[in-house]
Amino acid sequence: MEHSFAERLIAWQKVHGRHGLPWQVDDPYRVWLSEIMLQQTQVATVLGYYARFLARFPTVASLAAAPLDDVLESWSGLGYYTRARNLHKAAVMIMEEFGGEFPGEREQIERLPGVGRSTAAAIAAFAFGRREAILDGNVKRVLTRVYGIAGFPGEKRVENRLWELALSLLPESDIAAYTQGLMDLGATVCTRGARAACTVCPMVDRCVAAREGRVGELPTSRPK
Ligand code: ADE
Repeated sequence: MEHSFAERLIAWQKVHGRHGLPWQVDDPYRVWLSEIMLQQTQVATVLGYYARFLARFPTVASLAAAPLDDVLESWSGLGYYTRARNLHKAAVMIMEEFGGEFPGEREQIERLPGVGRSTAAAIAAFAFGRREAILDGNVKRVLTRVYGIAGFPGEKRVENRLWELALSLLPESDIAAYTQGLMDLGATVCTRGARAACTVCPMVDRCVAAREGRVGELPTSRPK
C-alpha cells in the first residue's frame, strides 16, 4: 500500500520540519500568542518579540489585567497593531467568558477576536491535539499544486473545495506533527512562484503541478 499524504508529511516533518521552536509546547496561551504573531510576521522576526512579550505577560490573566497601552508598547515593531488590540480583548474574554481557562474546542477558539478558522484549528491541533484542518496561504499553495486545483483560492467555491480536501487528508493521530509539517512544507519547500524546491519535496511524485509543469501557475492568481 502506498503511504497516504498524511503519512508522508508526518515522516518528512520529523526529519526535515522545524523543531525546537519556543511555541512547540502544550500551553494554549503560548501557542495562541505565537500563531497571532506568525499571521503576518516571519518566524525569525517573531522569535525575539515572542520571548519579550511572554516575559512581560506570562499568562492570559496577566495580559487581560494589563492596560492596553502596555500591550501595544510590547507589540511595537511587529506592526499590524489590530492584532495586539484583539489579543488584549481576547484575553479579557477568556477571563470573563471562559473562567480564565483557555477554550479547547475549535468553535470556541474561533470566537476570540483576531482568530479565524485556520488559526483556531492550528491552536486546537497544537495545544489540544484536536483533529482539525488548517488552510492558510501556505497550505493553499501546497494543496492546489499537489492536487492540481485551478481557480483563485480566494474565491468561495475554490476555498470550500480546499477546506473539504484539507479535512479529508487529516491523519487519525500525530495531528501536531502533521499540522506543523503542512506549514513547514509550504514555507520552506513548496514556496511561491516557480522557485519551489520540488527536487527535495516528499510529494513530488504525486504532485499534479510538478508532473504537468504547472508549479509556476498554481495557485491561480487573483483575477484582474
Ligand atoms: N506560521 C504560522 N504558524 C506557524 C507555526 N506554528 N510554525 C511556523 N510557522 C508558522
